[in-house]
Amino acid sequence: MTIQQNLGHTQGLGETNSIWFKLTLLSKGNPDNPMQTLQMMADRYGPVITVNMADQRVVFLTEPEHFKHVLVSKADDYIKYFDGLKPVFGKSMITHDGALWQKIRMPQQPAFHPDMFAEYIPYFLQAIHTKMGLWSKLAETGEEFEMVEQTWTLAADMICKALFDRDMPFNPHVVFKCVKTYTDVMEHKAIRMRVLHGDDIKMTDENAAKAMELWANVPPAVFAQNPNEERERTLLKMIEAVVADPSVPEFDQQQAIDELKQYLWAGTETTALTLAWALYLTSKNPDAANRIRKEGETVYGDREPTAADYSALAYTRAVIQETMRIYPPIWGLIRVATKPDIIGGKEIKPGDRVVIFAYGAHHNPRFWPEPEEFRPERWMGSTKGQVKYSYLPFGGGKRSCIGGAMSQVENTLALSMLLRRFRPEYLGKEPPGFSGTVTLTPKGGLKFRVCELS
Ligand code: HEM
Repeated sequence: MTIQQNLGHTQGLGETNSIWFKLTLLSKGNPDNPMQTLQMMADRYGPVITVNMADQRVVFLTEPEHFKHVLVSKADDYIKYFDGLKPVFGKSMITHDGALWQKIRMPQQPAFHPDMFAEYIPYFLQAIHTKMGLWSKLAETGEEFEMVEQTWTLAADMICKALFDRDMPFNPHVVFKCVKTYTDVMEHKAIRMRVLHGDDIKMTDENAAKAMELWANVPPAVFAQNPNEERERTLLKMIEAVVADPSVPEFDQQQAIDELKQYLWAGTETTALTLAWALYLTSKNPDAANRIRKEGETVYGDREPTAADYSALAYTRAVIQETMRIYPPIWGLIRVATKPDIIGGKEIKPGDRVVIFAYGAHHNPRFWPEPEEFRPERWMGSTKGQVKYSYLPFGGGKRSCIGGAMSQVENTLALSMLLRRFRPEYLGKEPPGFSGTVTLTPKGGLKFRVCELS
């Protein structure tokens, strides 16, 4: 059996012609911070770096004005890149461009309007209370645990309850671990190398196929689960309504299933990473953790927080914003050029893979004084002085994140409530290492223990 046949399922992400694989090569250097090499390249070679790799060019952008050019001014000439990720996202909105993308996004947009947040908050709170119950048990035993796993379960529970009116009908620990192995490009590369050397390998094509089979069964399980309250205004109801609408034939049952796949991945991993990094940063900055506790006490005291309280939690929200500046879950946005263009005096050719280096801008001292410092105060008061497009946790232009504003509500409330009841203690190495494949993920996770405050 050839390697090609053997790796049918794992091919796209780790193949030599995949941008994800090429980026792992470009970011070789400090294994605990793959962004450092890319930052050094940006410093040395200027704002538009073209790298010829085999039969393809990767164009690396580091300037906010060029981000705007690609994401806004010429958005139609730069399409999304999704090779290798299709099994995870199916044919969901995030993978499409042009008129079809618009047809799929439009009917779902109302579910993410800020007017809906007040309706969702009680369901976010239910999920947070479940998590606090579990942490209370962990605090009693003093057990160590992996924070990203904890926050990922919480994010998935929030989405299922608030947007789908369902309890989570799957085991997130098993499902997410399985799919994450699939999306970890380093793992793919390792498979190829180890197969080439005739080694016994951990993840095989069969494993990858199993992971994708498991993943494919998740949305049907959500549809099959009984609704909790038969709420009328949910994202799931909106999706079902478009499926039933003959004027949008493209939005069929498979589209509905794939939209759920997308929400359960794109809407949970990123939110979970942000909250986990925020808990790490606040465990290292006890003054910030105490200020969050005090703010919660003043704003909502002993009752449940509401939408108005969320607006008043300015410092806690600033901590979430600062966390996403330091650790942007999506560290780079990838596009494919469809037309010839010129950026910063350099020629762009159709087919070029264009990387918008968001992490680089977030850590550039020209835009963020002392960028390595954790300073939530940057986000308090006016942000007028900030350079436009130098902060892109949710992307930019028309393809920016549909759930960005909602995720801030989820994470602000979760951080406030968790810190008021617990003192999380980070137990891993300092600083924690991370890998930068599709998302910026702590290497080996973030080990924690919690103590319940009296
Ligand atoms: C901290 C949390 C989150 C972060 C950092 C984040 C980040 C992003 C980014 C950077 C993009 C744009 C990617 C690109 O332009 O290539 C994006 C798109 C998207 N996100 Fe999020 N996201 C978060 C939470 C969510 C949530 C909560 C949902 C929904 C429940 C969601 C659903 C989506 C969808 C559907 C898209 C595709 C939009 C389109 O193509 O039109 N995200 N996200």
